[in-house]
Order: sequence, then structure tokens, then C-alpha cells
Amino acid sequence: MTRFLAIASAKGGVGKTTTAINLGTAMANFGKDAVVLDANISKPNVSMHLGTPKLEHTIHDVIKGVKHITDTAYMHPSGLRVIPGNLSLNVARGIGDLSGFKNLLLDLVGTTDLVLLDTGAGLGREVMSIISSADEMIAVTSPDVPSVTDTLKTIRMAEDAGVKVIGVIINRHSESEHDMEIKNIEAMLDKNILGVIPEDSSVPKAIYARQPLVYLYPESMASMGFKRIAAQLMGQDYTPSIQAENKDMLERLYERL
Ligand SMILES: Nc1ncnc2c1ncn2[C@@H]1O[C@H](COP(=O)(O)OP(=O)(O)OP(=O)(O)O)[C@@H](O)[C@H]1O
Ligand SMILES: [Mg+2]
Repeated sequence: MTRFLAIASAKGGVGKTTTAINLGTAMANFGKDAVVLDANISKPNVSMHLGTPKLEHTIHDVIKGVKHITDTAYMHPSGLRVIPGNLSLNVARGIGDLSGFKNLLLDLVGTTDLVLLDTGAGLGREVMSIISSADEMIAVTSPDVPSVTDTLKTIRMAEDAGVKVIGVIINRHSESEHDMEIKNIEAMLDKNILGVIPEDSSVPKAIYARQPLVYLYPESMASMGFKRIAAQLMGQDYTPSIQAENKDMLERLYERL
């Protein structure tokens, strides 16, 4: 059975693309057949994170009806399977109604275990058509009030559309006194916190290098956080095999959940 899991938040820049790519890569490393689909249709950015901006076949070809979705996936050198978006503004301009997007995904059923849909920010029709095409959703938020407030709206809209929200990932957590407490985020969103990813300079370094973080810096704090969540989603155990210092920091963070 193929699971369609949207990674979403109305707030821009909270780490949706980073999360989709790194959960997908971690799952692939654990032996799961996962695909990351760039479903941020008007502002696709998976390819920017992965250094593959010029791809022949994209999700935009599928939406336009000129390509079959099963012909668009490619294997990134990191081992992650990706269905990319077309970065051209003109192509994005030509995309109209996406209410039939769910039907386009049906051809992926049975071809993979899991499709992670990287979605765009906002609560507009485009984004909600994409989120509604998934069966399940993970909300991503930064630990600040504006992000959590926007993320709450996404959760409510997704649930109204019949999408099961399986939990929240708090990204870019730091020990700053200005961060919201994890317990308060959990209470405000009224959802299970699946994991906490620390603020980690390895994340922008991996984006700069155009590689998934968990592939390039597998023992960084953020990588361990993503691997831990990926293992949990797959019902597997994960024990970080890294230096005690990083490991202890991550464990201390998780004690608060
Ligand atoms: N854990 C982290 N530590 C440090 N920087 C991070 C972390 N997560 C994300 N970032 C930085 O935040 C920026 C935005 O991340 P990303 O592109 O994943 O967000 P997004 O939610 O997909 O944005 P958009 O809404 O524009 O699609 C990136 O430049 C990345 O370097
Ligand atoms: Mg993004």
C-alpha cells in the first residue's frame, strides 16, 4: 500500500522542503522505498536543495498532461528518489486548477511505499488542493508564535479536508529564551510532537552543497533528529551511533516531549 504524506505549513521558510528531503533520504537509507514529490507547484524548490535544476520530466508535465507521473521520477546520487518540479516562472504561470491533482497521484499507487509531498506555504487554493490530495499530513513549524499560529491554520484546514494530521515536527529549535516551549506548542496545536530538529548550521551547508543533510552530514544533530523521526514513522528502532556530546544534546531535547 502506498502512503501519501504531505509535509506542510502555511508559514514560509519553516523547513518543509528540508524535512521532506531528509525524511525521504533517511527512509531510503533504512531500506524503505520512498519518493519525494515537489508539490510546491508555483514555487518548486526541491531541485534547488538537490542541485538538479534542469530536469527533462517534471510534475508540471504531468499536470499539463504531457507526461505520465511514473515517467518523471529520477534517482538522486544520494539514493533519494525524486519527482521534481519545473523551476521556470513561465511554466508555473501556465498551471491552472489543481483540484484534479489527487487523480494524477493514483498512478503511483503500488509503485512505492511512501510519497512525501513537499508543499508550498499559504492557505490558498493551490496549496489546499495539494494537501487534500494526500492521505496524511505532517505539520512543520518553527518554535515562534507567528509560525505556530500559521501552522495551526494549516492543521485545521487539512482536517476539514479529511486529511489525517499525524503530528508536528518542530524545526530550528534552539535554547533561546525567545523560543516557545515545546509543551506550549503541543498544547496550542493539540497534536503529537513527532520530533524536534535543532537549529543546526549543517542544514544550510548541505543546501549549499546541494545534497541531503542526512547523506552529507549523517552525524549532525539535525540529521539525527530526522533519522529518529523517519524510524518512528516506519516503526523501526534507531540508535544514533555518534559522539556522546551531540547524542546527549539530542536526548535532552527529547526528554521534554
Ligand atoms: N534545522 C535547521 N537549522 C538551520 N537552518 C535551517 C534548519 N531548517 C531549515 N533551515 C534553513 O531555513 C531555510 C528554509 O528552509 P526550507 O527551504 O526547508 O523551508 P520551506 O518551509 O520549505 O520554505 P518555503 O515555504 O519557501 O517552501 C533554508 O535556507 C535552510 O537553510
Ligand atoms: Mg519549500
